[in-house]
Amino acid sequence: MQRIVTPLLEHWYFRPGFVPRDAADPATEGFVPVCLPHTVREMPCSYFSVQDFQGLSCYKRRLNLKEEWKNHRIFVDFDGVMTAARVFCNGREAGTHKGGFTPFSVEITDFLRWDGGDFLAVEVDSTERPDTPPFGYVVDYVCFGGIYREVTLRAVPPAHIRNVKTEARDVMAPRKALALRADLQGVPAGAVLAASLWDGDTRLAACETALAPGAQTAELLLQDLDVRRWELDDPALYTLRVTLHSGADTDEVRLRTGFRIARFTPRGFFLNEKSIKLRGLNRHQQYPYQGYAMPWRAQYQDADLLKRELHLNIVRTSHYPQSPHFLDRCDEIGLLVFEELPGWQHIGDAAWQEQSCRDLEAMIRRDWNHPSIVLWGVRINESLDDHDFYARTNALARALDPTRQTGGVRYLEHSELLEDVYTINDFSHDGTNAGLRDPRAVTGLTRDVPYLVTEHSGHIYPTKRFDNEERLLEQALRHLRVLDAAAADPRISGAIGWCAFDYNTHKDFGSGDKVCYHGVMDMFRLPKFAAAVYRSQTEEEPVLEPLTRWTRGDRCAAQITPLVICTNCEEVRVIVNGVDQGKFTPDRSNYPSLAHPPVVLRQLSGGWGDDWNGAEFIGYRGGKEVARQRYTADPTPAALELRANAAALTAGPWDTTRIVCRLVDSYGHPLPYDFTPVQLTAEGPGQIIGPGLRSLLGGEIAFWVRTTGEEGTLRVTVNTPEGLTAAVTLPVK
Ligand code: GAL
Repeated sequence: MQRIVTPLLEHWYFRPGFVPRDAADPATEGFVPVCLPHTVREMPCSYFSVQDFQGLSCYKRRLNLKEEWKNHRIFVDFDGVMTAARVFCNGREAGTHKGGFTPFSVEITDFLRWDGGDFLAVEVDSTERPDTPPFGYVVDYVCFGGIYREVTLRAVPPAHIRNVKTEARDVMAPRKALALRADLQGVPAGAVLAASLWDGDTRLAACETALAPGAQTAELLLQDLDVRRWELDDPALYTLRVTLHSGADTDEVRLRTGFRIARFTPRGFFLNEKSIKLRGLNRHQQYPYQGYAMPWRAQYQDADLLKRELHLNIVRTSHYPQSPHFLDRCDEIGLLVFEELPGWQHIGDAAWQEQSCRDLEAMIRRDWNHPSIVLWGVRINESLDDHDFYARTNALARALDPTRQTGGVRYLEHSELLEDVYTINDFSHDGTNAGLRDPRAVTGLTRDVPYLVTEHSGHIYPTKRFDNEERLLEQALRHLRVLDAAAADPRISGAIGWCAFDYNTHKDFGSGDKVCYHGVMDMFRLPKFAAAVYRSQTEEEPVLEPLTRWTRGDRCAAQITPLVICTNCEEVRVIVNGVDQGKFTPDRSNYPSLAHPPVVLRQLSGGWGDDWNGAEFIGYRGGKEVARQRYTADPTPAALELRANAAALTAGPWDTTRIVCRLVDSYGHPLPYDFTPVQLTAEGPGQIIGPGLRSLLGGEIAFWVRTTGEEGTLRVTVNTPEGLTAAVTLPVK
């Protein structure tokens, strides 16, 4: 016997509501066929009622069991079901789970009949149950319901591996080691546990150990390893194979691992003993229309966007464990992660706290092998001090994973520090004062402690992508000032801003339309000016982003200055109406600590009533031109552009990609006050997610397409009423 793992994504049937008969009745009349990940209800992206997706629903699926799986123990692994689930196999309850962000497994071995009619029924409860974190009081985010992550059927021999934890050793030495512990089940006499480490197809090392019958854990050490460290610019990953041999049976688990040491200290954060100033944003896992239910590629595209477009080095998975795909991608591209347990300000009763500890344990057990994760968040985001509860969560995290430090996000000053890192949401910057508070004033301690700012900006200055220029600029300036303050103080490990993307929320928050416009990007991941602040702090590519729409009358009193240019160029030449205004250098006097302060033009001649003309900005590094931006004084629609983030999609279980559509002027800038309706159409094996008729919002929109299973060519077209059209073609294989 061997381990067999089969994805259970296709061939599910879904219907809102759950009646007792559903558990035992395989019939699917009145159900619709669905493919996972699945949202119980596609929602508008604003002005909806949160009641509309809450309630019970039913998912059913036949199990096409194969003869060779007999004698195995059979589990169904759920990666995430919001908010609670009861799983029935052939009418009998096989397992239940509460908590929408953590995985769970249900063993169905004893319920199977092997008669060709075996089936699962899942009752999904997507209500905001007060017995389950984050619920119980108000929450500033919406948790969309459904079996919204993957489900897998796992058949294992009676002797099998339950989990493997790896710990890198001697990371700074030329030859490194990897310690591993396997949790085992059903070990008979004469069994052996073997481990090998692989770099692609090359086996680097192997070892094994004989097991005592009934052994529940075993430890192994792979030594003398010639491996690279996991670094942000070279995130080397290796594959570990762990095999349990028992008689003729084998059970093998493969996982990826990396070699790195991450440490928060009173003098900042160190990765592999190198000091790194952390520059990050918080991410919610929501997507327009689909809620939480987006497959791997969308998760990958988010991580890529944070690392490669915004040039962040850390993301906080606010406020819960996020998709394993997102974390996998963070490992692959070198994006650090602060992951925290589900919650928001509210701490419930003893049973609720038990549930919270279960969530924490499930999160750590699921994710302890990700080199990208450098901190466990063990406190309910922004809750008050609670000595007993947080002494317990800290002890639990440290016992499960002594290799990582703990943080606990609070907004409180002088809060009881039970964690390793004082993680603080510092919303003190109001546009006129210092970017951040002094760490000792916040902690109230007379010594320095590891200290990380986990939120800033956010609700203090909500900004819509289609707001006027002054507001967009002020949001960007606030992020700049906080980043500068974080960079100035070696005691501050870094700052993680609120937040990456606008998100759906409850009536108690946001702009009344169920949206918090706190992102540096909107919920479609389109950038506001503040995105350029992050983008420009990189060495990887030249960035030159004037925070202007170049208009005479969009700002008050016909001002176009201060004109802030987010850039990593050493000099920027400015040409207005063909007249060279000279070269300008970054504003180090106001942003002394930023790696790349913006260039700020305080005065440009001209005003209300003068002839208005175009401009040109030229960026130089090492005296050479590396970037150029042009603006016309007279923008008109020149082209409709369409760009998909993926070049091809896969057939089978649904796949997706984000597509960006922009109505641009002759220099490629989207027209900021264009709200033209556009028709989106998909032909071939795919569909638009959300409505096909949309309005451009400030000259651009983004949307996602989903595949329908078949192979072929997916052609996505956008048309404007004025007859502009653009298309992309995606092979689906
Ligand atoms: C914080 C909270 C976040 C979000 C943010 C808005 O208090 O932790 O979840 O609500 O405010 O700025």
